[in-house]
Amino acid sequence: MEALNKISFLLGVLLLFSMAVALANAKTCYHDFVVQTTKVNRLCNTHNTITVNGQFPGPTLEVNNGDTLVINVANRAHENVTIHWHGIRQLRTGWADGPEFVTQCPIRPGGSYTYRFTIQGQEGTLWWHAHSSWLRATVYGALVIHPKEGASYPFPKPKRETPILLGEWWDANPLDVVRESTRTGGAPNISDAYTINGQPGDLYNCSSKDTVIVPIDLGETHLLRVINAALNQELFFSVANHTFTVVGADASYLKPFTTSVIMLGPGQTTDVLISGNQPPARYYMAARAYQSGQGAPFDNTTTTAILEYKSAPCPAKGILSNPVMPALPAFNDTATVTAFTQSLRSPNKVEVPSDIDENLFFTVGLGLFNCPSNFPSSRCQGPNGTRFASSMNNVSFVLPSNFSILQAHRQGVPGVFTTDFPGNPPVQFDYTGNVSRSLWQPILGTKVYKLKYGSRVQLVLQGTNIQTAENHPIHIHGYDFYILATGFGNFNPQKDTAKLNLVDPPMRNTVGVPVNGWAVIRFLADNPGAWLMHCHLDVHITWGLAMVFLVEDGVGELQSVEPPPADLPPC
Ligand code: C2O
Repeated sequence: MEALNKISFLLGVLLLFSMAVALANAKTCYHDFVVQTTKVNRLCNTHNTITVNGQFPGPTLEVNNGDTLVINVANRAHENVTIHWHGIRQLRTGWADGPEFVTQCPIRPGGSYTYRFTIQGQEGTLWWHAHSSWLRATVYGALVIHPKEGASYPFPKPKRETPILLGEWWDANPLDVVRESTRTGGAPNISDAYTINGQPGDLYNCSSKDTVIVPIDLGETHLLRVINAALNQELFFSVANHTFTVVGADASYLKPFTTSVIMLGPGQTTDVLISGNQPPARYYMAARAYQSGQGAPFDNTTTTAILEYKSAPCPAKGILSNPVMPALPAFNDTATVTAFTQSLRSPNKVEVPSDIDENLFFTVGLGLFNCPSNFPSSRCQGPNGTRFASSMNNVSFVLPSNFSILQAHRQGVPGVFTTDFPGNPPVQFDYTGNVSRSLWQPILGTKVYKLKYGSRVQLVLQGTNIQTAENHPIHIHGYDFYILATGFGNFNPQKDTAKLNLVDPPMRNTVGVPVNGWAVIRFLADNPGAWLMHCHLDVHITWGLAMVFLVEDGVGELQSVEPPPADLPPC
């Protein structure tokens, strides 16, 4: 007995010691981001492109869990900008979250702002992107969070790691594309290419000499940190002749499983291991659209990069000038998407919030505005002379234009938003059926939903069949949440509650709400602030598919939003 006590005492000392080391190791990482206009040549044309530090994609930030990041963003471009650290919880540091007019006013041309935040308990792959108009089309980069120093992955350490950023490219200025569609009320032009780490790859004009090469060696394991940074498209991703072991998503670990294809909605990340276990040669990695909405035009091109065995004999490289192409699912292969997303599980049993305080039900979907009487028909180029719209619970979200919601809330400025976002649909209907045309037109509003600190929230996200049903990647700022279940049709509390996974549901920051279906998520509202929730298809957020959770301060010392930084951009 005494020996046992001694051992547990020693173990305790060791644990304290290693915790102290981990704390002492947490560091502060300083970066300068200069937002500037850079010439970028793609698809045979040169564009004046807004980038960070002249890089496209922008710089990869590599940190350890526990580190503090201090990033000074100087705006030398001619557009307003903000930077969002997608998936970072921003505990008490909502001022550093980034969405314009939600947590800050934009950094004006010539201005600057320093984002300061600490990574607390997150490990894996996240990313950063502009959160102002459609600037994120070219202003984005990877944010890689390694385990605390001295700690390891819950899987064998890979020999190599590579961020794989899937992007979307317009052979035009993306800001012009969205301005044009906002003027006409019609759908914005579809993109001209997808990209892997900024390059379209061999299947596009004028692109093959710049195709990205990812090296691998026979026998080694390689961690691919796949990020969907595309603006408006869910994407399938696959590597010819290789299978993936999925080990994480959205900077949360997963119970490993194998698959030959993954699907990511914009905003989502997935960490996969691949092994160099194939004959040394060159293999394509490829991404192309998962398009669940029917009838809508979409970019059906395919982007590729090359997985290249370093040990491939030199002549063979020449001979195999055509790498092997993977088989990607059909564009509308929802069954593959469902099978993939239902394989995601937390590694162990988790503590899912129970005894729910807030039982919320939000519809998410499209809509159409009738043409306002003072608009010429050139401004109503949507179906049958309408303008496209989008909404949650029939509210089409309008950003404030001269103040941020967080500032207005903290400083008691009236008239910026209202607190009457409905917790349930104002009218109940057959959401996924044949919806009466009288229910297609939402109302405009800057409405927030207030949450008490510490409330346990269940949110049913219900897709609608208004205008076009499709899969919506819904992202919440400032939170990770458990995805308890997803399904098709209308959520039915009587029969679907039994399907909730309360044991090992995956944790994410972005959930794909199935086409004409629903998702049930839960989170604990333990982070005070103003948190945007929106569809991560930028075309939909532009049309109003967003709302804000306003989470109040708690009473505890560490339960309130920190004071705003002195250099917060003026409104
Ligand atoms: Cu990737 Cu509102 O964010």
